Amino acid sequence: MADAASAPKDPETIRREDYRPPAWFIPEVELDFDLDLTRTLVRSKLDVRRSKSAEAGEPLVLQGDDITPASVKVDGAVRNDWTLVEGDLVLPLTGAAHSVEIEVELDPSTNTQLMGLYGSNDMLCTQCEAQGFRRITFAPDRPDVLSRYRVRMEADKAKFPILLCNGDKVAEGDGENGRHWVQWNDPWPKPSYLFALVAGDLVANSDNFTTRSGKPVELNIWVRDGDLDRTNHAMQALKDSMHWDEETYGREYDLGLFNIVAVSDFNMGAMENKGLNIFNSRYILADPEVATDADFDGIEGVVAHEYFHNWSGNRVTCRDWFQLSLKEGFTVYRDQSFSADMGSAALKRIEDVRILRAAQFPEDAGPLAHPIRPESYQEISNFYTATVYNKGAEVIRMMATLMGPDRFRNGTDLYFDRHDGEAATCEDFVVAMEAGGEIDLTQFRKWYETPGTPRVSAKLSHDPQTGSATVHLTQKIAQNGEKPAASELLIPLRTALLDPETGVHGGEQLLLLDQPEKSFVLEGYKDHPILSINRGFSAPIILESNQTAEELAFLSAHDDDPFARFEAMQQLMTGYLTAKVSGTPVDRDIILLAVAKILADPTLDPAFLAEIILLPSEAFLGDQMVEVDPQAIHDEREKLRGKIGLQFEKQFRKLYKSCAPTEFSLDAEARAKRKLRNVALGYLAASFTENAAETAFDQYREANNMTAMQGALGVLSHLEADERSIAFEDFYKRFKSNPLVLDKWFSLQVMSMRTDTLKRVDGLSRHPDFNMANPNRVRALYGAFTGNQVRFHDPSGKGYQMVADMVIALDKQNPQTAARFIPSLGRWRRYERGRSELMRLALEKIAAQPGLSKDVAEQVFKSLA
Ligand code: BES
Ligand code: ZN
Repeated sequence: MADAASAPKDPETIRREDYRPPAWFIPEVELDFDLDLTRTLVRSKLDVRRSKSAEAGEPLVLQGDDITPASVKVDGAVRNDWTLVEGDLVLPLTGAAHSVEIEVELDPSTNTQLMGLYGSNDMLCTQCEAQGFRRITFAPDRPDVLSRYRVRMEADKAKFPILLCNGDKVAEGDGENGRHWVQWNDPWPKPSYLFALVAGDLVANSDNFTTRSGKPVELNIWVRDGDLDRTNHAMQALKDSMHWDEETYGREYDLGLFNIVAVSDFNMGAMENKGLNIFNSRYILADPEVATDADFDGIEGVVAHEYFHNWSGNRVTCRDWFQLSLKEGFTVYRDQSFSADMGSAALKRIEDVRILRAAQFPEDAGPLAHPIRPESYQEISNFYTATVYNKGAEVIRMMATLMGPDRFRNGTDLYFDRHDGEAATCEDFVVAMEAGGEIDLTQFRKWYETPGTPRVSAKLSHDPQTGSATVHLTQKIAQNGEKPAASELLIPLRTALLDPETGVHGGEQLLLLDQPEKSFVLEGYKDHPILSINRGFSAPIILESNQTAEELAFLSAHDDDPFARFEAMQQLMTGYLTAKVSGTPVDRDIILLAVAKILADPTLDPAFLAEIILLPSEAFLGDQMVEVDPQAIHDEREKLRGKIGLQFEKQFRKLYKSCAPTEFSLDAEARAKRKLRNVALGYLAASFTENAAETAFDQYREANNMTAMQGALGVLSHLEADERSIAFEDFYKRFKSNPLVLDKWFSLQVMSMRTDTLKRVDGLSRHPDFNMANPNRVRALYGAFTGNQVRFHDPSGKGYQMVADMVIALDKQNPQTAARFIPSLGRWRRYERGRSELMRLALEKIAAQPGLSKDVAEQVFKSLA
């Protein structure tokens, strides 16, 4: 028995090629909820229609997960001839159309997975994507079955005064014994994953929006009493998004009501349920006292993202979960473009590429690599990945680059027109883009099926006699840890050749690398030009160029493409640091000179300045090395940081003073100052010239906003000074009743490079405010810690053990969130031998646990394979 229990089950693998259309359609769904925290009754009435393509006599199979039917009726008559097969309800039916009624009883208070119907604080809410609806009632829980929903909700009026669901509220009334009810109709057919309801004691920030065609829309953001004054930024973001989608994609909202609800216990960021978006409260609540500038941006981006799904996801949905990037990749591209338009496009691009490189490139180079349209999965929750999302967005961006804005818009117009009301595929999208955008994407399609990051080598040669410059390009991809081999993707590379004296160029070219190897000859260059390639990061590739440090320094000072300028500086610093770590002699002065030029450039936007003088992260540096030694990387990086701080002490002091805060504002200039001031403080602290503890402590005490406070605490967290503990204690006292700010308190401490950080992680995991049931708190502690390269990778292996033990404990209550921690250990093959072995052992320990969830099992066994 013990053996059988501990042996990993052979989990079922779902394959893209096995897709079959549904045997039954459900045009209408009626749901009746009798809601309570510990006992909820769900009555459903499904109008089932046999599909023409179904085999005769095929029974009706309705998915269920952890539920049992209390009663089943067909056409009004009680039936007992149903069976439960691996949780699913199998019901023999003879005719082509029936009415099926099912009753299910739930206890939302025990639902710790936060999938299906669950309690959060004193409210009830749902999360159905991808397969949570089957935890509420039996249904064909697949995205290609679209139904019109009519929902009646009933509950105790005092406990749950607000009852929300998808669509429009059509009736309401009071019942007996203090109960009340609301009837909701959603006119738009939708898949079950977009179903949602919320019941609770909530208050709304209400506003309205008139669509371009003149239709009024009521907007509500629902929160708990007391949080109302923190919803204005989210409301503004919502109205901006609605306007932007009309202007940019011609898409209007299609209901009279749009509700958003903020909940504290949520596995993800937010969810696009039709007419009733449900948000992790961290992506709604903000005011300057509790939210950083980055938090404000996060809210704007996530509100936009979920709103944009109303078209890219809801009106046109996915046929099956292999098509996830159809809605997620496209919608990430849309929210990125929106944020670029709302603020600085240059900074947004830098940030998006940083995320891609931090999250997606390592995934693509590791054991969990998959194409943006995966071929198979065991647990779909594991495929909401940086690849599907962020690389997916890059693929859409490349299409936009290839077509130009007008043809891209024609393509998306055709896509929305053609597939409105349908469950579509990635292929449908590409076909529509080809027709609408007048382009042949035959070769481009390879991006949908190819895992791995292409490596493009670029070499420039010049003939002074003829004045021709030749760009030689090759492309390769490494797969399954093998050596890179020639590849044949269509890679659009925005390119310019800069005059070596002035840095000026005569216009950008779009080079299309569509073969393993290709050369482009460009005429009219008297002198050997400087190559600026993959400008704006036009393709998600790793560039291998033989550019010298001098050329990179030149680009960092002169390139007119802001991303390319930033990138040149990053490459310059990366080249230096990786050489130092591997013991290769290398010149540092050229970096100091480049930084000096940047600091002396009066034309630079201060926010861009703050960005471009930052060193590449320890994780990014590790990704560039054959074998990662986190301590060596950390030491070299800190040395360079200290040297830059020392060398430019005067400048940083001046910047620190000139960026001193005035009255709080969210405008670009005020934000840029806050950002630059924190960067200057970081360098001053790194140089040890300044009494950093004192300066940071003063900044903490005087701060009138969370960006300055967090910046100060970030610096203090690394120091041995008394000011550190005083500030952290003060912060705790001040904010202990605000969970979102307390999350920062947890994170900041475990991001410290101090050697006692491991002990602190252990201590904080026992802190009375630590709570495994709250995903935000778990991520605040362990997510921040696994990102702390030098301390998570402590050579003792204690960091790995703590994370493994947490995963084992969390898996029992919330598998989806537990599984998200596996990749940090899963990269074990990339580290030097000692750490590598200890990481593997931590994975083995998880793998040996009896009763692992499908979520964790898939990630662990794939990582060890
Ligand atoms: N549809 C997802 C939410 C989701 C993800 C539900 C995974 C179930 C499983 C939503 O649109 C989304 O993508 N949210 C992101 C934030 C977004 C800005 C990228 C998230 O929750 O992280
Ligand atoms: Zn999404």
